[in-house]
Amino acid sequence: MEQLLDGLMEIYGNGAEAQLPRYRAALDAFRECYGPGPVHLLRAPGRVNLIGEHTDYNHGYVLPVALDRDVLLLARPRGDGQVRLANMERDFADCSFSVSDAIPPARAGDWSNYARGPAQELTRLLGGPVPGFDGLVSAASPFGVPRGAGVSSSSALTVAMAVAFAHFAGWKGSGAEMARLCSDAEWYVGTRGGIMDQFIALLAEGGHALFLDCRPNDDGDFCTRPVPLPAGYRLLVMDSGVRHTNTRNEFNQRVAACRAGVALLRRGLPHITHLRDVENSGWSGLETQLPEEVTVAALRGQNVELGDLPNVPEDARLRVRACCRHVWTENRRVLETLEVLGSGDIRRVGSLLDEAHASAAADYRISTPELDALTNAAREVDGVAGARLTGAGWGGCVISLVPDGQVDEFTTHVGRVYADKTGREATIFPCQAGPGAGLVTVVEL
Ligand code: GLA
Repeated sequence: MEQLLDGLMEIYGNGAEAQLPRYRAALDAFRECYGPGPVHLLRAPGRVNLIGEHTDYNHGYVLPVALDRDVLLLARPRGDGQVRLANMERDFADCSFSVSDAIPPARAGDWSNYARGPAQELTRLLGGPVPGFDGLVSAASPFGVPRGAGVSSSSALTVAMAVAFAHFAGWKGSGAEMARLCSDAEWYVGTRGGIMDQFIALLAEGGHALFLDCRPNDDGDFCTRPVPLPAGYRLLVMDSGVRHTNTRNEFNQRVAACRAGVALLRRGLPHITHLRDVENSGWSGLETQLPEEVTVAALRGQNVELGDLPNVPEDARLRVRACCRHVWTENRRVLETLEVLGSGDIRRVGSLLDEAHASAAADYRISTPELDALTNAAREVDGVAGARLTGAGWGGCVISLVPDGQVDEFTTHVGRVYADKTGREATIFPCQAGPGAGLVTVVEL
């Protein structure tokens, strides 16, 4: 077990001791399920995003940070191509499936789909079935990634599974190859997100955010750069407790609005494929070509096709101009944030976070009264550098950069004001920017 503690120190630093009981409980449960023998411990973190929301699927820029909250997967390879899965949270039933290049999905919402997707995608990529395994997942609070809180718990689960399959298959893909694989695996589940969540879960470095340019280069690779978080500040996460359910339709409608914008702008600029392509054109010249609001049916009448997007009804009213404006301005804010983080101008970083929240709320319409209440309360504390919603929106979390000395005052103030305004309790915790997914260690049970 000393070896386990060493492995945990590398990942969680000072927090390693506190993790031990969680790891031990998972090892005990694994032994109970599958018996004695070697067990491989793997993990993948959740994330927050400092800035750059809904830019990834527009080939834009993002600046996410991995949490030290993660999905833990204990696994032992099997020789018969079967995958058997158990979960420390008993509301996730045991499940099993056989690995192949066409794995039938379980019913929608079944957690085994997050393992079926990576198994199928890696089998296709390698041209032959990857080894199966006996697995046990531990992802409950307080160390796990909160579910439905906009901190990417489903990507963390997908990435943990993909890392396990790759590990047992002996495949070491590049970060970009792994991220693509995980993103395809989430498409298997039915989510049409971008690539930010998979990249940060895989490539995070402790103490750093990750700048990612979501436009692949000609080799299919991506430009990434670790960016140190500002000294003297803590990145605090405020979970509103509002869980987003059924937001996939809203999400897809935002994607549709962006695609509509590109299709309309292409009439004058035939070379463009994504909103990123107009980053250097003046906004005032672009916006006149974009309708304030238009239905999918009306777009179709103008021969504007939106591509494969489930659950976007013909009568959905797409706010094309405002959505494109958010993406266009957000990309600029990310680049400026990088610059001012480098020069140490944290006040300006704060203004950019505030502007990003305002744009997400007014233009992209992904905020809620609870998220607005949290950002407003956060800004009332002296020295705070900005506050904004993080992740897809419609609930979940807000982040804020808080001076080291103000963390206690911040937590008390925001907690009290939020409860007064909404009658809800916020869970406020510091983001200890942790490392990306991987093997922690192998233990003999
Ligand atoms: C979700 C998606 C990401 C990204 C964010 C919004 O988390 O999975 O790819 O689009 O929303 O920035």
